[in-house]
Amino acid sequence: MKALVTYYSQTGNTEKLARAIYDAIHFEKELLRIQDVKSSQGYDIIFVGFPVQAHSVPAAVHSFFKNLPDKQPIALFCTHGSIRGGHLPKQAIEHAIGLASRAKVLGTFGIRGKVNPRVIDALMKMLEHRAWAEEAQGAIDHPTDADLADGKAFVKEILAKIGH
Ligand SMILES: Cc1cc2nc3c(=O)[nH]c(=O)nc-3n(C[C@H](O)[C@H](O)[C@H](O)COP(=O)(O)O)c2cc1C
Repeated sequence: MKALVTYYSQTGNTEKLARAIYDAIHFEKELLRIQDVKSSQGYDIIFVGFPVQAHSVPAAVHSFFKNLPDKQPIALFCTHGSIRGGHLPKQAIEHAIGLASRAKVLGTFGIRGKVNPRVIDALMKMLEHRAWAEEAQGAIDHPTDADLADGKAFVKEILAKIGH
């Protein structure tokens, strides 16, 4: 069994979750920034993480999703400023599933991640960002230890699906 945990992170929130996920795997594993992955071949499971940006998936991770091997088992994780389980982050997750259509998506997971208050102030002035930016004001202490513990529980769920 071999796992890859790979992520894109601009301000460290998604990296924190990636590290928690990596720590919860107890067999051969690698942790790599998405820009450092040379090949996505040869893994039994790939956990792929990204921050939600503008209700979608950052361009930096598009080609990774599109170039996954056929039927590759993957699990998606993300961080976002908006409320967990709400409709706003769902759009981005749906988009990621679409990009990874060649792969076999075993599950998805998202938690909140803080946004610099100055960035929120600026984005609140823009109509297309206002909805999530308003919600993101409440994400200031995220990801919390409880969020990261949920991430580890997510790993267990996914690994059970591949018979581990
Ligand atoms: C330019 C920009 C756009 C963002 N767009 C969204 C968004 O549409 N919805 C959302 O919930 N959070 C949004 N966020 C908040 C980030 O998803 C959140 O802070 C995330 O945890 C950042 O992860 P990172 O630290 O790994 O980069 C945005 C943040 C930035 C800077």
